[in-house]
Amino acid sequence: MRITICFGGSILVPGAPDLTCIRDIVKAVRELRAQDHEVLIVVGGGELARLYINAAQELGVPGIDQDQIGIAATRLNAQLLIAALGEIAEPAPVTVFEKAVRVMFKNKVPVMGGTTPGQTTDAVAAMLAQVSKSELLVFFTNVDGVYTADPKLDPRAKKLDRLTPEELAKLVGSAEFKPGMKSIMDPVAVKLIQRINIKTLVLGRHEIRRLPEILNGAKHSGTIITR
Ligand code: UTP
Repeated sequence: MRITICFGGSILVPGAPDLTCIRDIVKAVRELRAQDHEVLIVVGGGELARLYINAAQELGVPGIDQDQIGIAATRLNAQLLIAALGEIAEPAPVTVFEKAVRVMFKNKVPVMGGTTPGQTTDAVAAMLAQVSKSELLVFFTNVDGVYTADPKLDPRAKKLDRLTPEELAKLVGSAEFKPGMKSIMDPVAVKLIQRINIKTLVLGRHEIRRLPEILNGAKHSGTIITR
């Protein structure tokens, strides 16, 4: 199966880079490839992006330049993951979708960070899934699925096992994009998932090592987005 996987920066770099998480990713990606899956990866900026975007904000830097700083952070994280993946990965963060697909056809793993201001890497992952014609899109986040409300703020929030892209769109609402914003999923990504109708999984960090078995049908505790 061809899959696009997005690793949220908040699990990869929650403060300092999380080495256990990075090692789990390397193990899972190697296993997926051994099972003949084609893998494309996108990584987020995490705390590194947040720190730099906040600094830029304090300095009165315009929003679009704050985004560029966020993108630079995602690419640094991408470079770290590439280094950990070693010879199976394309040696530099990929910045163009078509190149990522070419890299995949060369049997290497492309790792992308951000691309364009005004969105997050959630949107990059949805675009990459579309351009690469992936069968599945997987988001690993620090919230282990899609909830009815932010579980960190609302103790009554319930995790949803399954929902449609339309229900997801309703949940995310039409929040305006701001550099470094927090939401369940970037509204740009949600729109794309709706449009391309790709099966999408939202999983917690603890499921990274289980991804190969999840793809073979094993149960998981995340959320499936499908019609
Ligand atoms: P992230 O993709 O890391 O944001 O982008 P996130 O959804 O908060 O995810 P975590 O924390 O990684 O889980 C960080 C910031 O970088 C800029 C935006 O400002 C975004 O908020 N960015 C990122 C872009 O402008 N374009 C991109 O394609 C990606």
